[in-house]
Amino acid sequence: MERHTAEKRVRELHERLNQYSYEYYVLDQPTVPDAEYDRLMQELIEIENAFPELRTPDSPTQRVGGQPLEAFQKVRHDIPMLSLANAFGEGDLRDFDRRVRESLNEEYSYVCELKIDGLAVSLTYENGVFVQGSTRGDGAIGEDITMNLRTIHSIPLRLKEPVSIEVRGEAFMPKKSFEKLNREREERGETLFANPRNAAAGSLRQLDPKIAASRNLDIFLYGIGNSGNVNIRSHSEGLDYLDRLGFKTNKERRKCKDIEEVIQYIKEYTEKRSTLPYEIDGIVIKVDSLAQQEKLGSTAKSPRWAIAYKFPAEEVVTKLLDIELSVGRTGVVTPTAVLEPVRVAGTTVQRASLHNEDYIREKDIKIGDEVVIKKAGDIIPEVVRPIKERRKGEEKEFHMPGHCPECGSELVRLDGEVALRCINPKCPAQIREGLIHFVSRNAMNIEGLGEKVIAQLFREQLVKDVADIYQLTKDQLLQLDRMGEKSVSNLLKAIEDSKENSLERLLFGLGIRHVGAKAAKTLAVHFETLDRLMKADVEELTAIPEVGEKMADAVVTYFHQPEVLELIQELKEAGVNMEYKGPKPVSGDQSSSYFAGKTIVLTGKLEALTRNEAKEKIEALGGKVSGSVSKKTDLVIAGADAGSKLAKAREFDIEIWDEEKLLEELNK
Ligand code: IVH
Repeated sequence: MERHTAEKRVRELHERLNQYSYEYYVLDQPTVPDAEYDRLMQELIEIENAFPELRTPDSPTQRVGGQPLEAFQKVRHDIPMLSLANAFGEGDLRDFDRRVRESLNEEYSYVCELKIDGLAVSLTYENGVFVQGSTRGDGAIGEDITMNLRTIHSIPLRLKEPVSIEVRGEAFMPKKSFEKLNREREERGETLFANPRNAAAGSLRQLDPKIAASRNLDIFLYGIGNSGNVNIRSHSEGLDYLDRLGFKTNKERRKCKDIEEVIQYIKEYTEKRSTLPYEIDGIVIKVDSLAQQEKLGSTAKSPRWAIAYKFPAEEVVTKLLDIELSVGRTGVVTPTAVLEPVRVAGTTVQRASLHNEDYIREKDIKIGDEVVIKKAGDIIPEVVRPIKERRKGEEKEFHMPGHCPECGSELVRLDGEVALRCINPKCPAQIREGLIHFVSRNAMNIEGLGEKVIAQLFREQLVKDVADIYQLTKDQLLQLDRMGEKSVSNLLKAIEDSKENSLERLLFGLGIRHVGAKAAKTLAVHFETLDRLMKADVEELTAIPEVGEKMADAVVTYFHQPEVLELIQELKEAGVNMEYKGPKPVSGDQSSSYFAGKTIVLTGKLEALTRNEAKEKIEALGGKVSGSVSKKTDLVIAGADAGSKLAKAREFDIEIWDEEKLLEELNK
């Protein structure tokens, strides 16, 4: 084939393939059989192989391509991606409508849309060509996920008009694809995604675009971020314009002339929700006119011209098969409902929380009952109430046992607590849960040491306490279920890396009573090394503003146990870092420091520190370091050969220190 014939044919093929895939993926109305599409695609691939320079980025062959990325690049959104305020009932909606009416003082109308439960993304086109796609991130800065978004067939790589535009929408995984994906994962023994939203987000956060490509994602565009098009006067016209450009928008949208029609729309779609092929978690209501949107404006977080009505948490009925007990890290014994599997709010639920014995008594829940299960968003499902009318008389009352289901020691109820506890420090369940906690994300964050692996290591006595984790060998790990060379070497690396963690992770991971992640950070920042913290007494601890009596007692008691000292020694010998590595917080909670809230000027030559080091240390303690002396200066620190600034300080009668005094205060 001649070069110019090839060029012409490539153009034709682009056009036809784009049109067919638009009909198939966007309109959902294919006009040709799949085989025809495949045949043309094959032809294009062959021409591109013969003339590689004709393989342009917007070619239909280029949806999945390129090497896996090392990391995602950050993208700044020219126009911030705001989120929406929520409405939870009719009352909230009428309040919203009243605010709109009072601010506008003129006629207005709404557009209602489905609130798709996926992941907000922004797509940028230059002269009609898709050039960049990103996540919402924190609204100001997101991540560049162009490679993954290109794999979504309903995202046009080239628009029907050569415009430059930034559009926004929701990428999601249809219910069917989600179910298929989870079925496959189950067969392969992989962890299941909790719901389609997590599955979509997980797929788009993969560095290798081949994974996203295999996941059947889809998108609905719902807004224009940035465009030069001046002819659009309303949101609904904007959506029609997106349709004309070849984007996929959601056709369930409706113009509503007032809040009554909005409420009617919500009622309709609350009914239709379960029949839709994708998950929605609410309805979005927007003032239609763009001029009025502008008039209403936005707060820092969300526009005043729109609101998201959130569906109430879904409730379903299923059977309570049994009540199991689990012993947590702190010995608390919790009853968990074992349920006949049931779908609720997009996921299959088999277990639900029953909180504690009092809860079961109060609600009069019996084993064998039909029960109402509630699940809202990511919240752990819970048993709301039994349906007593459906009892057959065979239901059994539940009693908490008097003894720990794991170790058999007597359970106790501590003063003022509803929970029953196993107080045997050697209880295997507590130790196992403690190990799981130690490696968890906010603690030592050792990836690859999941609950199952820990349980097996513990059962086979390869790990009896957290220090043993650092003695694990390749041979030992290779014996575990489902562990190959690759996963073992990754795990060993993760264990090794965790030795470098800053002190607060270790402190939190040790699971000292009353020391949560935040308290661990406070202690780490304050004491800097574990040795110093271990020497602290109750008085010294309670002097820290965030530390109360209870926590102080717990910390002192913890470090007085000989077994703990031995454990710390073992960790130390294994090379686990015991120092705080993060920055000192700049302001806020160092109110006990002399420098907090003060303005300080450094002048002259310092000996022990550089000027910069001194500045950093003072700032870390909440002080502000300024370059010039004024009446507002609280303190001047004068090194050798100080000149005019020192003179000025004397003139204004400002407190003056030498370097020695500074060091003394810094080391306090
Ligand atoms: S409009 C400035 N419309 O819901 C408001 N959002 O907090 C831009 N969402 O993260 C949002 N469907 O990703 C809008 N039809 C729809 C939507 C929708 C889903 C998501 C959006 C955002 C969240 C709102």
